[in-house]
Amino acid sequence: MENSSEVVSRLSMKVALITGGAQGIGEAIARLFVKHGAKVVIADIQDKLGHAVCKDIGLDSASFVHCDVTIESDVESAINMTLTKYGRLDIMVNNAAILDDGKPNIVDNDQSTFERVMNVNVTGVFLGTKHAARAMIPARSGSIIMMGSVSGSIGGIISHAYSSSKHAIVGLTKNTAAELGQYGIRVNCVSPYFIPSPLTANYTQDYPEKYSNVYSNLKGITLREKDVAEATLFLASDEARYLSGHNLVIDGGFTVINPAFGLFARASPNE
Ligand SMILES: NC(=O)c1ccc[n+]([C@@H]2O[C@H](COP(=O)([O-])OP(=O)(O)OC[C@H]3O[C@@H](n4cnc5c(N)ncnc54)[C@H](O)[C@@H]3O)[C@@H](O)[C@H]2O)c1
Repeated sequence: MENSSEVVSRLSMKVALITGGAQGIGEAIARLFVKHGAKVVIADIQDKLGHAVCKDIGLDSASFVHCDVTIESDVESAINMTLTKYGRLDIMVNNAAILDDGKPNIVDNDQSTFERVMNVNVTGVFLGTKHAARAMIPARSGSIIMMGSVSGSIGGIISHAYSSSKHAIVGLTKNTAAELGQYGIRVNCVSPYFIPSPLTANYTQDYPEKYSNVYSNLKGITLREKDVAEATLFLASDEARYLSGHNLVIDGGFTVINPAFGLFARASPNE
């Protein structure tokens, strides 16, 4: 019988590249992947932070590469560096993204901001997927994971640009899953609910409790980076070997309920 205090290495011998892994959700994914036996490469624009995280994880398991996901040659070099160092790429996590200020009226939204968000959040994911596929196709295996959002499934919760970008990568997930399945490569998306982070600071600083609790119907639990990392670990591992083209929402039921209706809240014996 397995000792419950032992970590089962679900990514033993695997090599993963994580964009935007210098902090937040990406960092949590890097740490959990290493805990499960993977070698990770963190690709980010925050060099100092990225190097510090890798040092803290352990330089035998984690490396940093400067990479702006909007620049194709950066993405190409990051994949090539991974192949040179480890000889393979098993897992690609397209996690890097930005969020704009979110002016609620579309009339006040400017084109340059919209394009900046789409460039990082969609073009960056396209480039990451393209160059990961280049490395994975000859190996006839691999797992590519996009970092989506609940705002990629429903409207009205965040800026037009960000919501558009997260919807777009669900489409890219399905289309690339359809293409890359013939090479044994799986492509999936993970779509979390809000987590207070530098990314969401402008949205959450005034109402942190509102964003972590009110809209979810799952009470007593607050979503953490680690929860997103666990779902990503599952999709990266061989346990998910027949899953491709999915959008796995991590939202405590947020996207399946309409709070305006609220039948079960009204019927609750505790109300
Ligand atoms: N925090 C949330 O509430 C939340 C909810 C749903 C989805 N997400 C998604 O999770 C992912 C990570 O979010 P987070 O909250 O950890 O954000 P974060 O801002 O803490 O981290 C994002 C990382 O991406 C990096 N990055 C930004 N632009 C880049 C570029 N051009 N090239 C390379 N790296 C770049 C940043 O330097 C940073 O390290 C994003 O895709 C985000 O959209 C976050």
